[in-house]
Amino acid sequence: MNNLVVKNASQVVTCSGFTGKRGEDMSDLHVIENGTVVVTDGVISHVLKEGEGLSVDLSDYEVICAEGKALLPGFVDPHTHFVFGGYREEEFAWRMRGDSYMDIMNRGGGIVNTTRATRAASEDELYIAGKQRLDAMMRLGITTVEGKSGYGLDKETELKQLRVMQRLNEEHPLDVVSTFMGAHATPEEWKGREDEFIDFNINEMFPLVAQEKLAECADIFCEKNVFTIEQSRRYLTAAREQGFKLKIHADEIVPFGGAELAAELGCLSADHLLKASGKGIRAMAKAEVVSTLLPLTAFSLRENFARARTMIDNNCMVALATDFNPGSSFSASVPLLFALACIYMKMSPEEAVTAFTINSAAAVGRADKIGSIDVGKQADLVLLQFPSYKFLPYHVGMNIVEKVIKRGCLLVDR
Ligand code: NIG
Ligand code: FE
Repeated sequence: MNNLVVKNASQVVTCSGFTGKRGEDMSDLHVIENGTVVVTDGVISHVLKEGEGLSVDLSDYEVICAEGKALLPGFVDPHTHFVFGGYREEEFAWRMRGDSYMDIMNRGGGIVNTTRATRAASEDELYIAGKQRLDAMMRLGITTVEGKSGYGLDKETELKQLRVMQRLNEEHPLDVVSTFMGAHATPEEWKGREDEFIDFNINEMFPLVAQEKLAECADIFCEKNVFTIEQSRRYLTAAREQGFKLKIHADEIVPFGGAELAAELGCLSADHLLKASGKGIRAMAKAEVVSTLLPLTAFSLRENFARARTMIDNNCMVALATDFNPGSSFSASVPLLFALACIYMKMSPEEAVTAFTINSAAAVGRADKIGSIDVGKQADLVLLQFPSYKFLPYHVGMNIVEKVIKRGCLLVDR
């Protein structure tokens, strides 16, 4: 049933708005105390304050009594690599011993290691693993997930990954936003011919992916010893010409000018940004690029966190994401994400909630449809076991999600 009433929630944390929020605006969650939300045909039809009468006949509505519980928009995870073969637990152990992420990558581990396993996996194997991962994310309150290709790095396997995401988007209750990331690393067979590999992506892969409508966005790993600024500019400019929205892995390992490039090109989002320069931060704010921060990755790589405070204080639109992947962040832990964002990145609970709802919706180009509790939006909702959103970072590492609602259907009830 897609008709539903969530009654008398101690807080309806609306995050109200149809675009991403910048700077100070990230602090206002537009909370309604003791509010009620009505969903009709999977869409939010009424958001009511305490005592406001309801003029709808509720006979064919499911009713959830939400006294003492906070209701939020479903979480939007705008940066993951959740479709892949194999695991890299050995590399994690090497990193704990002191090897760097880049050393491991340069000696044939890292992304190229997962690429070998993903090429070897069948479409059905990837589908089953992907489905289990989406199920786990759903129990943590995530209702929309962005997923990237980039563990194929050849025609056949890139398309296989994207088709798995397309099938999951159709068959799994969560929404999957697909991103083509043909330039995630240079595979063995193209080593030393990076410019030609970029040409291959532009001339062969973009048209195929666009024609089959297999991805909405294109992404590249712009980083020292991966792809240069010039290669990234060429790849992203061509991607835009072929109709993709632009994303970029920027300034993750060393300061590299990725944030500046994202601003120059007007990317939808720039992600990671651990080493983004002050100039890059100001440029992103001016160009309205969403700055997508991935604290679980910094934590897993034992790196310093991105400068969220500087970004918000400079009027950036900051989003949060898990970066779920088999290497740098094998985690979709929403509870830990909130805790790290607040405890180590010094975001307020309000800013963190904005960053993982309306701003993460903006990071995937969907702030007009999801990410807030507003009349007309898709009814993706999360009910907490506690009366306030403030428990999200405070109850460190604990899953406090009680119910997850997708398009008005109750998916999770714990
Ligand atoms: O976002 N940095 C590049 N890409 C991923 C990691 C992928 C991997 O290690 O498999 C990231 O961290
Ligand atoms: Fe990533």
